[in-house]
Parts: sequence; C-alpha cells; structure tokens
Amino acid sequence: MSLTGKHVLSSDLFDREELERLFALADLLTPVARGRQVARVLEGAVMASLFFEASTRTRLSCESAFLRLGGGVISSTGAEIMSIAKGESLADTSRVVSGYCDLVVMRHPEEAAVHEFAAATHVPVINGGNGAGEHPTQALLDMFTLHQEFARFGRGLDGRRLALVGDLRHGRTVHSLMKLVTLYEDLTIVCVAPEPLGMPVGLLELAESRGHRIELSDRPETGLKDADLVYATRLQTERFADRPLPYSDEFRVDRALVSRVCREDAVIMHPLPRDSRPGSNDLATDLNQDPRLAIFRQTDAGIPMRMALFASVLGAAEAVPGALRPAGWYRPDYTGPDDAPFYRNAAL
Ligand code: NCD
Repeated sequence: MSLTGKHVLSSDLFDREELERLFALADLLTPVARGRQVARVLEGAVMASLFFEASTRTRLSCESAFLRLGGGVISSTGAEIMSIAKGESLADTSRVVSGYCDLVVMRHPEEAAVHEFAAATHVPVINGGNGAGEHPTQALLDMFTLHQEFARFGRGLDGRRLALVGDLRHGRTVHSLMKLVTLYEDLTIVCVAPEPLGMPVGLLELAESRGHRIELSDRPETGLKDADLVYATRLQTERFADRPLPYSDEFRVDRALVSRVCREDAVIMHPLPRDSRPGSNDLATDLNQDPRLAIFRQTDAGIPMRMALFASVLGAAEAVPGALRPAGWYRPDYTGPDDAPFYRNAAL
C-alpha cells in the first residue's frame, strides 16, 4: 500500500505493515524533529492548516513537522475569521484552498465536515479531529509512543493488556486508537467508563472480530489493574454541554490510584489536554514525577510521526535517508535530566 496522494480521514487507512513502515521513518526523522539534523524533502511544498475548533498540539505540531521538512505553512483558525462566516460553503472553501497548497490539515467540530471538504478538493486532506469522530494522526503518534515505551522493557504490543479510561464515547482519539491497536494480536482491551460514556459498540465489535478480548468496567480501581498501558482521556464536556453525565472523582487518575493499582512497569498516556482545574476528574498533575507518565514523550513523538506521515502522503518518504544532514545551528540538549533515561538515543 502506498500513502502517496491519499486523504487521511480515518485510521481505517492503515494496516500493520504500513504502521511499522511509518515507525521506521519516524525513527529516522527523530534527529530532525529534535533540531539536530535537517531533511528538506518538502522544500517548496505548502501546507494549509484550517482549524475550526480549539487546538494547541495538533495544529502546532503539524505545522512544526511540515516546516522541519523544508515546507511552508499557511494557516487559518476559527470559522468566524473565514469566509464561511459570510455564508461560503465548505465545498467552495475547499476548492479555493486547494489552489493555494499541496496538503490540508483540517479540524472541525462536525463529523461530516472533513469528508465534505475532502470530496471537493484535489489535494490530500488530513483529518486533525472531526467532532466525536476520529483523530488519526493522534492515533499514529500514540502507536509510535507505545511502540517506543514497550521497547524499553523489551516488549512488543502483541499480547498486552490495555486500559482505556474516561470519556470513550465522545473522545475521538480513542476511536482512532482502537482501529490501530487492534491491528496487533491477542490483546485484552479494558474499556473503563461510566455506561453512558462507554466505547461505541461498533469499535468493540471490530476489536472482537480481530480476535481480541474486551472487558468493560465502570471502576478504575479494578479496570486499571495489571494493565500494561493506561490511556486516560478528558471528559469531552463541549460535546454534550446540554446534558450532564455521570463522572465521579473515582475517574481521577492520580498518584494515589496509580500507586494502589498500576503495575510498576505500566505506561501512562493521555492525548492531552488534561483538565488541570481544581475539581476536574482527569489525569492528575501529582503524577508528573512518576516515570510511568509518558505524556510529554508522547507529545514529542508527534513531530517525527507527523513528519513521516506528510513525507509519505507527498511521495517524499524515499528521499529522506539521502536528505539527512547535520543542522547548522545550536540547540541546547533536547532532554532534561528527568526525560533523558527514556530516550533511546539520549545523545540526540
Ligand atoms: C484531543 C482532541 O482534540 O481530540 N487532543 C489532541 O488533539 N491531542 C483530545 C481532547 O480534546 O480531549
């Protein structure tokens, strides 16, 4: 399978072989992501980032990844500042923008919008999050992080016990992640959520049809036990503002809970943002010094993985090895003392 010229709207697009090819390319591009090397394989290319919904990581890391490959970026954020506010259709906007760039990254609060946009354009469209639907580039970087974190313990992904916790109904990152983890073998996937916030049935059936075991739990105290991965998520209040849903402080993943129930070698991830306001029931900041917490290694992994994806979609992946050269500027050590032990090549 080649990704060249493809839209990336769903994680459905990928198979295990393609994922592993992207991991290898992302590994190769890690020194570029860290400002140690340069690889200008997208020189002259332009990416448009169109974000109709709040974003920090996805927009900035996509833009950084594209710039690091030598491309240029044009960007617009918020429907209120675009001509959509004057009544322009998404299809017209799409056709217009495709004349200005070679690739679009788009985020929109409505699930159908990214499909509508892609149907009207002639450049590849990357889904940066569509409502409660999917977030395929987040799932790619989550898989890359998992692959790296498990590798530190000499383990692979097959046969692992994975606990997904939080708002699994509205959280698009876990939807895309389910489609990718289930490409591996012999998993136990524990979905830990209050019943109204449970994982959509279609995704549970997909996992079962691929031979995995599903366990449902509404108690983190038991659901997180023995898990190799704890993937926490934020309560997506913006997706059901009109009807309060049950979510007790039992769902706060904090030091007390983790020290009571999690394995010593568990990996704790979260797509971020986590809600750190007082009273929120999210991943707690009192875990920040816990080496199991991989959230910032996870955000860091977003740059090389998104570089690998853009290079592949624009047909430049094969040019990467020959394009790598040392960076001509000074950048301080990438990793601080807390993170250094976790990077396979800490000298980078
Ligand atoms: C997520 C999103 O926007 O779907 N964030 C991200 O892109 N890393 C998760 C969230 O908003 O809770």
